[in-house]
Amino acid sequence: MSESVSLTDAANHTVALPLVTGTIGPKAIDIGRLHKETGLFTYDPGFMSTASCRSAITYIDGDAGVLMYRGYPIEQLAKHSNFLEVAYLLIHGELPTKAEFAAFDHEVTHHTMMRESMRSFLNGFHYDAHPMAMLCAMVGSLAAFYHDSTDIDDPKQRYLAAIRLIAKMPTMAAAAYRYSIGWPIRFPRNNLDYCTRFLHMMFEVPSERLELPEVAAKALDLLFILHADHEQNASTSTVRLVGSTGANPYACIAAGIAALWGPAHGGANEAVLKMLEEIGTPDQVGRAIDKAKDKNSGFRLMGFGHRVYKNYDPRAAIIREMTHRVLADLGVSDPLLDVAMKLEEAALKDPYFVERKLYPNVDFYSGLIYKALNIPTEMFTVMFALGRTPGWIAHWLEQHVTPDAKIGRPRQVYTGAATRDYVPIDRRG
Ligand code: CMC
Repeated sequence: MSESVSLTDAANHTVALPLVTGTIGPKAIDIGRLHKETGLFTYDPGFMSTASCRSAITYIDGDAGVLMYRGYPIEQLAKHSNFLEVAYLLIHGELPTKAEFAAFDHEVTHHTMMRESMRSFLNGFHYDAHPMAMLCAMVGSLAAFYHDSTDIDDPKQRYLAAIRLIAKMPTMAAAAYRYSIGWPIRFPRNNLDYCTRFLHMMFEVPSERLELPEVAAKALDLLFILHADHEQNASTSTVRLVGSTGANPYACIAAGIAALWGPAHGGANEAVLKMLEEIGTPDQVGRAIDKAKDKNSGFRLMGFGHRVYKNYDPRAAIIREMTHRVLADLGVSDPLLDVAMKLEEAALKDPYFVERKLYPNVDFYSGLIYKALNIPTEMFTVMFALGRTPGWIAHWLEQHVTPDAKIGRPRQVYTGAATRDYVPIDRRG
């Protein structure tokens, strides 16, 4: 017999609400019939206790600091897998065989080119446009270039759009960066792997061969794996909400990019580096901590805290280790790393952060790696978007094969004026 919970309203009317059970994790109360049966809504700003969908892609246990893609712990994927394989896993649900991986790699690699007319589109931007603004617009514009992959009822078209997005995002991101610094756009070199190809598009100049240290593509690949999905975060939920209207995939992912841009979400990695620069030296860390604790200052420690993790973000632990490796391999000594480590140490000992379970999140150390790879600060959130693309796509694909899918349409508690009569303008006092 299926489980349910009973709820009794003020008029002593009891309604039995069924429980929804997943593989692991908390059960959820299915409140779909609540309003019909009781006339009541639920109220949960920020979705503190609300599951918005069923999903088989990613599992997080925020108290235990656990993250799994399709059941595989993030630590194992970070150690043994690569970003394209993780993209395949998120989208298809299983790890690929050698032949399946080769076919997927081939498909992605052969959709990396950007239409030449995209260049004119890019030329419309002022040279100092933020790359997130350019990326968001470029991705949305793909719907105007690829009419053969916007019929969302056709699984083949949905898949083609998925491949195109994973393939073209790095090309467009690098083009946006090069446009902003006035360099000629570099087209993708398909003999290179996904991350090395991106680094070439970013940094290769026509006049010189680009020598890349081995650790550069390795670190980028790791960061992309760790950012690839994070269940129903703000940008993924945005992709799903837009997707629920039947909008085309390019519009949905452009909406996800827009949501990611905010400093409470993906924009935090850019904000962390700016914060570390402002703090400047380890001896100023105490002042920053005091300011973050002062609610009137409007200042928060960027890269700290998480809606779901009330423990060390498992991604932050992996990135922290990689930061040391990248700096050592590149022979870079970054004084901001000392500031970051001092800040982390001080916050983890401070009762304000301990009581609120505020730990470093994925954005705390990632900026230091990007900086060591010469990726400019304005590109940090773009890097997050590149990593998150397979996750957004996996959720968009999943929602289109969900039998009980409905347009997302939250309700509200109205707090405006009660009914009143219109007063003509010459009689208003
Ligand atoms: N610095 C100082 N105080 C903080 C911080 C912080 N970074 N984060 C939360 N708090 C305090 C907050 O003031 C509140 O205190 P009180 O209980 O006294 O009112 C308490 O901790 C709970 O905070 P909240 O804002 O209710 O928590 P939330 O779950 O709504 O917000 C968050 C989560 C990530 C938006 C927030 O922790 C934050 O603003 N962090 C800084 C921005 C950041 O690093 N964002 C990246 C998140 S991870 C990557 C991603 O999702 O993109």
